[in-house]
Amino acid sequence: MTRVVAFHSYRGGTGKTNVAANVAAELVRRGRRLAVVDVDIQSPGIHVLFGCDPSAGSTLNDFLWGRCRVEEAAFDVTATVERGAGEPAGPARGRLSLVPASVRTADIARVLKEGYDVEMLNDGLMALCRQLDLDYLLIDTHPGINEETLLSIAIADIALILLRPDHQDYQGTAVTLELARRLEVPRILLVVNKMHPEFDAALLAARIAETYAADVGATIPMSDEMLRLGSGGLFSLADPDHPFSVQIRRLVTAIDG
Ligand SMILES: Nc1ncnc2c1ncn2[C@@H]1O[C@H](COP(=O)(O)OP(=O)(O)O)[C@@H](O)[C@H]1O
Ligand SMILES: [Mg+2]
Repeated sequence: MTRVVAFHSYRGGTGKTNVAANVAAELVRRGRRLAVVDVDIQSPGIHVLFGCDPSAGSTLNDFLWGRCRVEEAAFDVTATVERGAGEPAGPARGRLSLVPASVRTADIARVLKEGYDVEMLNDGLMALCRQLDLDYLLIDTHPGINEETLLSIAIADIALILLRPDHQDYQGTAVTLELARRLEVPRILLVVNKMHPEFDAALLAARIAETYAADVGATIPMSDEMLRLGSGGLFSLADPDHPFSVQIRRLVTAIDG
């Protein structure tokens, strides 16, 4: 059985895409078979972290417009993780596929103008799990609530809701959390990102857990190194001992046991 893990946040820039990509890399290194799907059709980006060019093949958009089967839009990016891990970490035994969304302006405009068939997206995600015999399906989403975020929450076995320690994020997070609860997601984990490095992580996690009556999967500090990398790669592989990477592994342990 494939486990569906959806990454959400009410506001943008919380780190969904970076956290999802690094979680994916760790899962592959654990020997899991997984696919990452970019359902942030309005502002796709996760392909960048895997050094993938969506225009080199078919995308999620092509599938949604009936131009290809969903598995034909999957790029095998396992090698990116193997390269990123370097020699000492050893080769990944798992497999990582990426279904990117189109970065062409006309394609993005078409989705915004005409929409798409949400049921087809659902069917595509399910078909991908079967066709690629996946252990995990990771879904990266657009911030806020829209059709694709609703779908991904509805089908998720685990919903990861990212938030920053910022008053603007707090209220929105409650909305997303409420939605995930109503849709009866079996497991919900809050992920605090961009925490001030001088904050007491355990205290902050305890406060947030109490406020939302929800589990906190990780408290990730704001880091200069991440800022410097600027989504240019998979940070947790390049610097496995960094606090960011330690928290990613903590999150992966919460997901994968
Ligand atoms: N812990 C962190 N420390 C510093 N910068 C971060 C951290 N997490 C994410 N970022 C940066 O924040 C920006 C937004 O991250 P991204 O993953 O694209 O968020 P989202 O997908 O939620 O919009 C990126 O430039 C990313 O490099
Ligand atoms: Mg994103």
